Amino acid sequence: MERTIKIFDTTLRDGEQSPGCSMNLNEKIEVAKVLEALKVDIIEAGFAIASPGDAAAIAAIADTVHDSTICSLARCVEKDIDAAWNAIKMANSARIHVFLATSPLHMEYKLKMKPEEVLESIAYNVAYAKKYCGDIEFSAEDSTRSDLDFLCRAFEVAIKAGATTLNIPDTVGYMVPEEYAARVKYLREHTAGIENVTLSCHMHNDLGMAVANSLAGVAAGIDQIECTLNGIGERAGNASMEECVMALKTRKDQFGIGCNIDTTQIYRASRMIQTITGVPVAPTKPIVGANAFAHESGIHQHGVMANKETYEIMTPESVGIPKNAIVLGKHSGRHAFEDRLRELGYTLDKAKLDTVFDKFKALADKKKVIKDRDLEALVGAVPVSGEERYSLDRFVINSGNSITSTAVISMKKGDEVFERVAASDGPINAAYRAINKIVGKDVVLEDYSLKSMTDGEDAQAEAIAKISVDGGDTVTGRGVSTDVIEASIKAYINGINKYFID
Ligand code: KIV
Ligand code: ZN
Repeated sequence: MERTIKIFDTTLRDGEQSPGCSMNLNEKIEVAKVLEALKVDIIEAGFAIASPGDAAAIAAIADTVHDSTICSLARCVEKDIDAAWNAIKMANSARIHVFLATSPLHMEYKLKMKPEEVLESIAYNVAYAKKYCGDIEFSAEDSTRSDLDFLCRAFEVAIKAGATTLNIPDTVGYMVPEEYAARVKYLREHTAGIENVTLSCHMHNDLGMAVANSLAGVAAGIDQIECTLNGIGERAGNASMEECVMALKTRKDQFGIGCNIDTTQIYRASRMIQTITGVPVAPTKPIVGANAFAHESGIHQHGVMANKETYEIMTPESVGIPKNAIVLGKHSGRHAFEDRLRELGYTLDKAKLDTVFDKFKALADKKKVIKDRDLEALVGAVPVSGEERYSLDRFVINSGNSITSTAVISMKKGDEVFERVAASDGPINAAYRAINKIVGKDVVLEDYSLKSMTDGEDAQAEAIAKISVDGGDTVTGRGVSTDVIEASIKAYINGINKYFID
């Protein structure tokens, strides 16, 4: 019988904790729904003790998602485990994931614990978690720099205390594939009871080998891959889900292993993460990068026209890349619009659909053809809940290379209209200062980017404004328009709206 590997997605935990990738409650729920549509086996929805917001998001996901197991991370500390259980207990299928470091470096300098104390803590806390939940994962943090015999003892203790999954993480991305496979083999041969539990890998990408190491682990007997969409995660990120899954699928002849992922949802999921976090993938990123299926050289194009397989080892359709690039225009009706969104994988509630449709009509007046990328941009720039506390009414900018820039911004809040003027050394900064006056908050622009969404003279610009309000967490705002200044203003207002919705 074919072996099936479990996919444990940690986009919402390890991914979300990486700089610039934070998400609000509604965004996390949207991501969780996409993970469920992907048929991910386990969703690590967060680290409940980290903040009340994290705990609330995990609980909301546990309530919303029915088909995947919902997991929360917890240190080997009672209050962490209590918080994890409280957050996941509504889930159809729940898992508590406890971790403790086992490397000499971490035990001495970070934990300030003796090896025997670490073993005692594992025994106590895994058993404590087991009182709440049958499905317990134990991770030996920094396992790949841990003494192998000590690791065997730590895992034996965890198994005796009730762990059902043992994770062998490469926390610092130090492994090379053969070495990791050898460690997995050693652990399988020297840990009593290991044959009764699921073995997991969790590889970081510091040396660019997270996917290769995961696959080497699988070949050596790993049953579960921990990974993230687009490979987001601490430092250089985690093993990318799309790369692991497509490698297993494309090279089934090599691995002979299946997984439950619906690969046709990959492109949509990847785009959603890029849209929400404002962190784009490189054009050359395998599977989901803009060039992943593009053939530039004449020889390659000629080959592909004769037979796709000359230069394509998998099809764009297999990862859900839409076939049809040019779709709608100003004569398209609501049905065609809704159908196309559905084909792209978006099922929007009525409020959001109405807002996006209005924006589509306005865009269709300015742009002859609306491509899929334009539609995705429109969907991504509308708040998940469809609500907008502030909206842009109008703006006037006066700018030049020999004058101080000035901006007049008029914004609506319900039926009220507010107008303010500000000056600065650039037009966008002047506009942002005027908005700050209207909102009456200390809004700081932490990061800003602007790019063209599609080609051609009437291309839409996408602006990403990462802001913090009154010294709080960073919020990512997006704005799209055929006018770069309007896109920038909308991105800033979108970020402010998200701050108020949270
Ligand atoms: O990288 C790591 O070791 C982790 C653990 C918490 C599993 O993220
Ligand atoms: Zn990690």
